[in-house]
Amino acid sequence: MSTIIKKAKAEFIRMVINFSSDPYHLMPHVPEAEKWAKKMLKKYPKADKEIVLLAVWLHDLGHYPIPTKIDHAIRSEQRARKFLKEENYSKDKMEKVLHVVRAHRCKDVMPETLEAKIMAFCDSASHMTDTMYLDMVRVDEEGKFPRTYAKMERDFRDLAMFPEMQKELTEIYEAWKTLLTAYEKIDL
Ligand SMILES: [Fe+2]
Ligand SMILES: [Fe+2]
Repeated sequence: MSTIIKKAKAEFIRMVINFSSDPYHLMPHVPEAEKWAKKMLKKYPKADKEIVLLAVWLHDLGHYPIPTKIDHAIRSEQRARKFLKEENYSKDKMEKVLHVVRAHRCKDVMPETLEAKIMAFCDSASHMTDTMYLDMVRVDEEGKFPRTYAKMERDFRDLAMFPEMQKELTEIYEAWKTLLTAYEKIDL
């Protein structure tokens, strides 16, 4: 791992530790997103590895401290800019990383580059393979999980950026839906 990526990882860990709790599930999420990024970088070797891996560690830096009305992708972009400037990272590459960070939610800014598409894909794919939805149901509406379902649907939609990968993840997405529906019926 290059020095700048190691430093970005340390910056991420520092942010979570400083906040002293992890309501946004970042400690499992970001390393899981990194696993997906490494898999996708092997599959799409034309993508710039450093840009993607830097963005992985920086893309959710805007979550803590909470609360804030500012979208975390905007705050992540601001923090990533500050971090990369302090590291004297090249301006050209910095702008590329910042686009990847800013567009990772596929919300108001859509991913335009291969690196940004990979990041947005990995962000959603990681939710399919870690315990994000289980964590979400615990804080969702009692007995029903509208936020969790909505998140899962958005994630599955964003996987379509790489249709063959979306296909690979369809079984697990269907399994999550089955699990949540069964869990909902128990009505605890
Ligand atoms: Fe995010
Ligand atoms: Fe994320």
